[in-house]
Amino acid sequence: MSEALIEIAGVTKVFTIGTRTVNALRGVDLTVQAGECMAVVGESGSGKTTLGNLILGIDKPSDGTIKYNGEILPMVRTRRLRRRIQLVQQNPMSALNPKRTILASVALPLAVHGLLPRNKRRARVAELLEVVGMSPDYMDRNPSALSGGQRQRVALARALAAEPDCIVLDEPTSSLDVSVQARVLELLVGLQKKFSLTYLFITHDLSVVRNISSRVSVLYQGRLVETGVTEQVFARPRHRYTQMLLSSIPVATEREQALKPSWPWDREQALRESVADVGCPFSPRCPFAIDPCRVELPRLEPVQPGHLAACYNPG
Ligand SMILES: Nc1ncnc2c1ncn2[C@@H]1O[C@H](COP(=O)(O)OP(=O)(O)OP(=O)(O)O)[C@@H](O)[C@H]1O
Ligand code: SF4
Ligand SMILES: [Mg+2]
Repeated sequence: MSEALIEIAGVTKVFTIGTRTVNALRGVDLTVQAGECMAVVGESGSGKTTLGNLILGIDKPSDGTIKYNGEILPMVRTRRLRRRIQLVQQNPMSALNPKRTILASVALPLAVHGLLPRNKRRARVAELLEVVGMSPDYMDRNPSALSGGQRQRVALARALAAEPDCIVLDEPTSSLDVSVQARVLELLVGLQKKFSLTYLFITHDLSVVRNISSRVSVLYQGRLVETGVTEQVFARPRHRYTQMLLSSIPVATEREQALKPSWPWDREQALRESVADVGCPFSPRCPFAIDPCRVELPRLEPVQPGHLAACYNPG
């Protein structure tokens, strides 16, 4: 049986902007197993990036704990911990300095973490570029000479240079053309297997989740509302918000259409963003709400082995 690599317990994150507070995450409990790909989905502003940033140590939780390999992650990360959890973002240019050559960018983690002496770094960068499907001939070029897909491959090579055991992938394919997206996703799947990596795959695009993740977690307004094995959640989403998300995925075939959950779309209700102060946070938008939904917060409960949902009137 695989072991827990990341254990998130009661994690809350509150941002304060002047007199305004934003509850980006509220009491999130989540475990990511070593070697799995956990997808984190939800609408814009649901707290996906915040969750990734807390794991990476870019931000600190306001409350709760995050354990990594059984140990509570310290507020100030050691260099070793920073090396073990890497980030690949939507925009590869955030990882690549436009003025640096590909060689310099990919070699940086080798130097920072003292992984290789200077005279061995060029050969290692060539190896890493090949691993991500790029010719080492690109080494002496600048990122501006590359396409979006190639830049994302280089950003991946840079993350791999640190020899991580976990990568937080925050919308890694969202800025790419659809045809390029498919190839980068294929590469990600291959790299995960090859290096036994653990992925936290953040996306608002549910159609990619099915192909890449073993489990999926759904955030709604900073709360974890459903989590489970991807196939089970797709076959029978229980939380009504997950159903709404899945019902809006574009499909290519009639068979896929038949398998998609139906959703009684009431455009105004669906677009309503109001936050419920009490009860289920989705209740203002939920056509299935019943009395308890407006009174008390539903707790995450098992709906089948390995599948939890926080819903009083599940599908
Ligand atoms: N540094 C910050 N300061 C203040 N508020 C923040 C900060 N970072 C995030 N937030 C707020 O926290 C909430 C969650 O943001 P987050 O970026 O985690 O959402 P997300 O799910 O990643 O959204 P998206 O899909 O748009 O990337 C939002 O309301 C956002 O405005
Ligand atoms: S708890 Fe109630 S309001 Fe919330 S999603 Fe379930 S049915 Fe809808
Ligand atoms: Mg985000």
